[in-house]
Amino acid sequence: MEIIICKNHEEVSEKAKELVVKQLQRKPMSTLGFPTGSTPILLYKKLVDAYKKHLITFKNVRSFNLDEYVGIEPTHPQSYHQFMDDHLFSHIDIEKKNVYLPKNDPTHAHENARLYNDLLKKYQIDLQILGIGTNGHIGFNEPGTPLGQETFVVDLNEGTRQDNLKFFNHIDEVPYQAMTMGIKNIMNSRKIILMASGESKSEAIYQMIKGPVTEQLPASVLQLHPQVIVILDEAAASKL
Ligand code: F6R
Repeated sequence: MEIIICKNHEEVSEKAKELVVKQLQRKPMSTLGFPTGSTPILLYKKLVDAYKKHLITFKNVRSFNLDEYVGIEPTHPQSYHQFMDDHLFSHIDIEKKNVYLPKNDPTHAHENARLYNDLLKKYQIDLQILGIGTNGHIGFNEPGTPLGQETFVVDLNEGTRQDNLKFFNHIDEVPYQAMTMGIKNIMNSRKIILMASGESKSEAIYQMIKGPVTEQLPASVLQLHPQVIVILDEAAASKL
């Protein structure tokens, strides 16, 4: 694990951008893995800027998102489809046919998870970008998820639904399920960048780097991956 400590979130995003730009300049046909959440928003803005300055093109890029809610429309303001369009895809030249996100459709969710998993086996991810939850989750792989898990439909526990309530009008609107790449899919990526900013992530970061590899802290599995770069701001690194 290479660990880079930056002053603040701006620098974390700048460093991550530099690495993505380098990846695309070296291999324009890269397959990238994207997260949602608050962490990558500034990175995406910087990637859009780099695209507009003609430093990179996404014309030959294939992308896979880590996860998505099941049971809301892709056009719902809180869907990860919408998030990616808002922050990245609608501003760059990536081709729709090369963009993969887990489907929201609840009726065939398990079948869709199998198909998504097949695609991930077919197209190995060159560079996977990750955020981390305060409990050490990556994607929607919560503590207790087997480390060999492949893409699956996860039932969101009540705590997670309550945490997400702030993004919805009413608890009944918060989805009960999500689909996520499993830990095994994430580990199959050639290279991984994990970004974290803020004090609230410091304990999870400490456990991820210094603690044992355990299902109880899913991100700790990254210790076993040969090419991981962890980019932290000083607050997220404060317990190291
Ligand atoms: C989102 C995802 C999640 C987030 C994590 C951190 O696609 O996979 O694991 O990366 O919950 O979220 P933020 O960045 O909002 O702190």
